Amino acid sequence: MKFVKAESYEKLSRMAAGIIAAQVILKPDCVLGLATGSSPLGTYANLASACKAGDVDFSAVKSVNLDEYVGLSGEDDQSYRYFMDTNLFSKINIDRANTYVPGGCSDDMEAEGKAYDELIDSLGGIDLQLLGIGLDGHIGFNEPDDIFVGKTHVVELDKSTIEANARFFESIDDVPRSAITMGMGAIMKAKKVLLIANGKNKEDILNQAFYGPITPRVPASILQLHPDVTVIYSEN
Ligand code: GLP
Repeated sequence: MKFVKAESYEKLSRMAAGIIAAQVILKPDCVLGLATGSSPLGTYANLASACKAGDVDFSAVKSVNLDEYVGLSGEDDQSYRYFMDTNLFSKINIDRANTYVPGGCSDDMEAEGKAYDELIDSLGGIDLQLLGIGLDGHIGFNEPDDIFVGKTHVVELDKSTIEANARFFESIDDVPRSAITMGMGAIMKAKKVLLIANGKNKEDILNQAFYGPITPRVPASILQLHPDVTVIYSEN
């Protein structure tokens, strides 16, 4: 694991965008695993600028997102599909048909999860997976559990996650109680993992995840077993 401490969120964002841009330059038809949350916003803004400047070409890139709230359609402005369209896909020259986010509104969520894993396999797996980390150690929406779940699956969100994500909604009651998330299988099979975290409040969980025991109680701790992980952290 490479641990990089950045001086500021701006610098973290530039570094993370640089790594993703390098991936796209080296393999123009790569598969990017993408994340939502506030942490990647600066990274996505930098990628948009790099694309606008003509430095990175996303036209052959495919992307798979980590997760989606159950019950929200892609048109809902709180959905992760909407977040990705607004904050990244509409600002770079990626073909939207090559961008995938798990569906939160399927009648059969189990089939949705299975189809998503088959899709990732059919794309040849993920070349570079971008991750944030939740305060309880979740990656994607893989919440603390008794086991690590490999497949894309539906999870009940933890109270702490609902509280943390309430800032994006009008009221805490509007936060969906469940989500569909890529499991640890596809994440661990990604060739490279880039985890970004900012804020003093993430320090403790980063220590637990990367320097503590590997346990499904701290989901991100499984990344200690991945051969190519870069963590970029900034205090502010
Ligand atoms: C959400 C997402 C995660 C993300 C986490 C941290 O719950 N499902 O993928 O990593 O929040 O978010 P933030 O970056 O806003 O702290």
